[in-house]
Amino acid sequence: MTGTVPVVRSVKALRDQVFAWKAEGLQVGLVPTMGALHHGHLSLVDAIAAKVDRVVVSIFVNPTQFGEGEDFDTYPRTEENDRRKLATTPASLVFAPNANEMYPNGFATKVSVGGISDKFEGALRPDHFNGVATVVSKLLLQCLPDVAIFGEKDFQQLAVIRRFVADLNIPVQIMGGTLIREEDGLAASSRNAYLSAEERKVAGQFNVILKDLVAAVKSGTPLRQAEEKASSRLLAAGFKSVDYISVVDPDSLEILDTFDRTARVIAVARIGSVRLLDNMAIDLE
Ligand code: PAF
Repeated sequence: MTGTVPVVRSVKALRDQVFAWKAEGLQVGLVPTMGALHHGHLSLVDAIAAKVDRVVVSIFVNPTQFGEGEDFDTYPRTEENDRRKLATTPASLVFAPNANEMYPNGFATKVSVGGISDKFEGALRPDHFNGVATVVSKLLLQCLPDVAIFGEKDFQQLAVIRRFVADLNIPVQIMGGTLIREEDGLAASSRNAYLSAEERKVAGQFNVILKDLVAAVKSGTPLRQAEEKASSRLLAAGFKSVDYISVVDPDSLEILDTFDRTARVIAVARIGSVRLLDNMAIDLE
């Protein structure tokens, strides 16, 4: 097929290619994705390509990280289009295994990360991070890249991945990719496609309200007050509910009581049935 990036579907074919590159002395990078690629994903490919010689993009909608009643069945599967988009980037290879290649009969292992994965997303979506940690461990061991990159939009996911990669001594460098926004500031996400035109307008307020929270914290507003105000503004703007909005330590994700170090605001709010995630750095200047 022309105009698309080549695909392999087995771990063996992936490893054969990666080992061939390594035998030539080339450095290999991995961009794990669930497909439905948008410009946020493509920016991860560009960012990692600046560090390595060959980039593998994995596409696998991982069933084990979706909870009951979540959107596993309807999650967009657009592989051919994704491979066409990747042809405009430095990506060299797509790894798109099927569920049986990833979880063959008899599969019985779970990677479970304590502490950092118990709160926020982990508290609201039981087992979600077990699914992420298990599949990302597998992808890293299947591909054996020198570097792997994950977007900062899923800020807690990135922290969980850094934790188990360090704990399990997986020999890979983890990079965080800058959060990419749409023109109105909404964080780029495959799930934005679920928003109606009306909801999409409301969604643009998320970024504005978080920016105001960051400014308020920097100018001395107590953290709980700034969080509560942002939450009320989200509801007034048309969001259905706010799952959390918290100023945290960027490494441990502990909720801060005072703004005494560089911090991060992490937030999830719902519009209709869509959960939107966002976060922003709050730098001590
Ligand atoms: O962020 C995602 O798209 C997924 O959680 C990941 C890291 C590809 C694991 O399935």
